Amino acid sequence: LPEIPIIAIDGPSASGKGTVAQLVAQELGYYYLDSGALYRLLALAAVGRGVPFDDEEGLARLAEGLTIRFEGGEVWLDGEQVGDAIRTEECGNGASRIAAYPRVRAALLDLQRAFLQAPGLVADGRDMGSVVFPGAMLKIFLTASAEVRADRRYKQLMGKGMHANIKQILHDIRQRDERDSARSVAPLQKCADASLLDTSSMTIVEAVDEVLAWFQQVCVR
Ligand code: CDP
Ligand code: CDP
Repeated sequence: LPEIPIIAIDGPSASGKGTVAQLVAQELGYYYLDSGALYRLLALAAVGRGVPFDDEEGLARLAEGLTIRFEGGEVWLDGEQVGDAIRTEECGNGASRIAAYPRVRAALLDLQRAFLQAPGLVADGRDMGSVVFPGAMLKIFLTASAEVRADRRYKQLMGKGMHANIKQILHDIRQRDERDSARSVAPLQKCADASLLDTSSMTIVEAVDEVLAWFQQVCVR
């Protein structure tokens, strides 16, 4: 059987992974997995059901029972449209806390792998290339300086009419980088076989073109 191509894009918060991954998927006609949305959804569901963020067992059980659907760029949790509720920084911070638990990560593994379908998949997150899809054809570590990322997130939230404070965002980004990099399971780090893409002074289009060019190179090999 021919292998289904996977492009794994990992990197820190607000580096542009999601935007770039979606555009690359669109260009290639591939499926797209926003793995961070799953951790964010779980954080939201935990708050809604009163499961504390330090209850690993309870969180893992909650993760195993979630019914999640992605449709037309929208996320559905147990039959309800979630919208921007998972895009707040609070939800991102909650996601980062619960993502440190091995049992929570294990509970979300099959759900993530189920996104793999022909003709191909572009997946973004923290451990797409290292844990979830180690056999990915192309692995990219997409990053930018913390200041640039805070600025991007600030503008993104303001554009959605959401409350934002640039200093708080920079503080949260640094804290999240630290927590995501320091954890013992699936820490945020560049795998040896990943290509580094620093987009600090790149536009979205330039970053997308670079990823597509790298992909063409691995395809002809
Ligand atoms: O959009 P942003 O990069 O800020 O966050 P996200 O990708 O939506 O992920 C939110 C949090 O979920 C991250 O801070 C990680 O702690 C966690 N996460 C993870 O551990 N593994 C993934 N594959 C994706 C997200
Ligand atoms: O998924 P991740 O948290 O890594 O980032 P994102 O949500 O894709 O991107 C954060 C914001 O930065 C979005 O509003 C993008 O449009 C913007 N961005 C940018 O301005 N320049 C880039 N080169 C990449 C992203």
